[in-house]
Amino acid sequence: GAPVEVDIGGLQPGQMMTVEWRGKPVWIIKRTPEQLEDLKKHDAQLADPNSERNQYPTPDYAKNEYRSIKPEVFVGVGICSHLGCSPVSKFTPGPQPSLPSDWPGGFLCPCHGSTFDLAGRVFKNKPAPDNLEVPPHMYLSDNTLLIG
Ligand code: FES
Repeated sequence: GAPVEVDIGGLQPGQMMTVEWRGKPVWIIKRTPEQLEDLKKHDAQLADPNSERNQYPTPDYAKNEYRSIKPEVFVGVGICSHLGCSPVSKFTPGPQPSLPSDWPGGFLCPCHGSTFDLAGRVFKNKPAPDNLEVPPHMYLSDNTLLIG
């Protein structure tokens, strides 16, 4: 499939957009400063906090504590590494009955309950074997992403 060019200039902190790349949903999330701060707090609860597993190798430029090129902008494939369901989050449009009301953020897979943080990192003791995939991507300009 061809690379996909995305204008993220309108994306506000705390918002997510979804684009399609190779038939997969790719999430682009602009994380707030609070959400970034939160990412530093739960390494011990994650299965692979430093993205060293290899089902979906994390590109070198995203092997950092935010799993992203720009700290605030997360780019990830919205498909669970277990059996391919699409996790939901408070960003997902529409009612999300499977999300607990005190859900702090991140993603919850409705199929077998795997949970991921806002960098797509899977929590321990969940069926999903790996973090969410970070697709190959780069910035063509400050607000233009090229995915693929
Ligand atoms: Fe996501 Fe099984 S497909 S937990």
